[in-house]
Parts: sequence; structure tokens; C-alpha cells
Amino acid sequence: MKQIQNSKYLELLSVLGIGGAHPGGINLTKEIFKHEPINDSCHVLDVGCGTGQTAAYLTQTFGAKVTALDINPTMLEKAKYRMKSNELHVEFIEGSIENTSLLDSHFDFIITESVLSFVNKPKALSEIYRLLKDGGRFIAIEQTMNERLAPADELEIMQFYGFDSLLMESDWEALLIQAGFENIQIQNHTTIESEPDFHYSNEIDPELYNVMKKHIEIMLNYQGIISYRIYACTK
Ligand SMILES: C[S@@+](CC[C@H](N)C(=O)[O-])C[C@H]1O[C@@H](n2cnc3c(N)ncnc32)[C@H](O)[C@@H]1O
Repeated sequence: MKQIQNSKYLELLSVLGIGGAHPGGINLTKEIFKHEPINDSCHVLDVGCGTGQTAAYLTQTFGAKVTALDINPTMLEKAKYRMKSNELHVEFIEGSIENTSLLDSHFDFIITESVLSFVNKPKALSEIYRLLKDGGRFIAIEQTMNERLAPADELEIMQFYGFDSLLMESDWEALLIQAGFENIQIQNHTTIESEPDFHYSNEIDPELYNVMKKHIEIMLNYQGIISYRIYACTK
């Protein structure tokens, strides 16, 4: 549970139960999957599934078999509630993508939507590579810097979010190549937005409102610099 304790921001997301907690939200996810060969014979792993908005969409729309993994029990509880309310079947696993007990070459698709920034990236990427079938697709929507900042500013951002590094597009590409991925395609879709989707916890520590304030402050201060990319590749 180290990652959760290190990130007050992730704690905030889980108590607010924010669905689509990645840039572009569910509308970007829908746009991406319009162009992927997904159908009811596919098994998808949604890594860091949060409250399960994407997992629900993939199973409901394509009939895909979805396994959803998250390290945070509050997120998983909210994701399970979403599936129950919508009568959807998704398999849930509580654990870290840095080290799972899932079988080798098990999934046709693996997705991470704003997850890898919070974990040990080489470890998580080699685990994702291991879990993917040959020819399987890995799609990641991940925070990406458009330019480097002064070291003190980068440190402030990393400490606030609980990131171990701030990567530029070329850094992500190098990590994907190092993990063994091929046919890497990188896209930048900054115009897609989604409606917010909240599943609040009964009790919210007032200190977390300061975390929200700080997050908004960072986003405003570094507009156009802290960005994201969609990375799509094949094993
Ligand atoms: C920014 S949220 C994104 C949630 C979801 N993908 C979405 O788009 O709404 C990051 C998620 O990654 C999860 N997470 C963080 N570290 C993780 C790890 N080591 N293994 C699995 N999930 C992790 C968090 O608990 C959280 O649900």
C-alpha cells in the first residue's frame, strides 16, 4: 500500500470516487477503442481501474471479458458497486501492477489510464509485457511533460502526486522499447473532454480539500507543460 500512502492526490481521487480520472476521461477512451480490434472474444486487463468506468464501458459495449486491477480498496469497492448497479460482470483483483500473480500471455489488451506515473515504471511495464499475449495490444494514456522544468519545480510536482519521475514523450518511448514493445504509436489529443463522474465516500477528510486546491494550482501554473500522450503498442 506504499503508493497510496505516498500520494494524498490518489487518496483524494478515491474518496471523491472520480471516474474517468485520466486526461480526456471516458470520451477519450471511447475514441481510442473505435480504432482497436476489440470484440467479445477479447480478454482485457484494466490496470489501475479506479472506479471502473472504462471496465464497465468495455464489457457493456464490446462484450469483452474484463479483469480490473487496482491497489486501492476504496476504488475497488466503488468499481464493484458500479458493476452491481449496472448488472455487469467484471473480475476484480486488489494488488499492484508491479508484481501480480496473473499468468503469462493471458490478455489480448492491457490498458493503463493515468496509472504508470504513480508506479515503478520499468517494473510495471515488464509485468504488462509478461501478461500480454503475443500480438496483444497495450494502450496507455499517461502524463507527459512537454518541456523540462527547473529541478525544484519538478520535485514539487513529483512529491505532490507521488511520482518517482516526470517523463517526456521520448522517455516513455524508450521505456516501452526497453520492455520489449513494438509498433509504438504516440498521439496527442488535447481537445477531448468528458463530464465528471463522482462516487463520494461518506466521510471526506477536510485536509483533502487543500490537496484539491494544490492540484488545481499546479495544473494552472503548468498549463501546456504538464500534458499527456496516448501510447499504443504491440507485444
Ligand atoms: C489517476 S487514477 C486513474 C484511475 C482510472 N484508470 C481512471 O482513469 O479513472 C490512478 C489509479 O491507479 C491506481 N494505482 C496506483 N498505483 C497502483 C499500482 N501499483 N497497481 C495498481 N493500481 C495502482 C490508483 O489506486 C488509482 O485508482
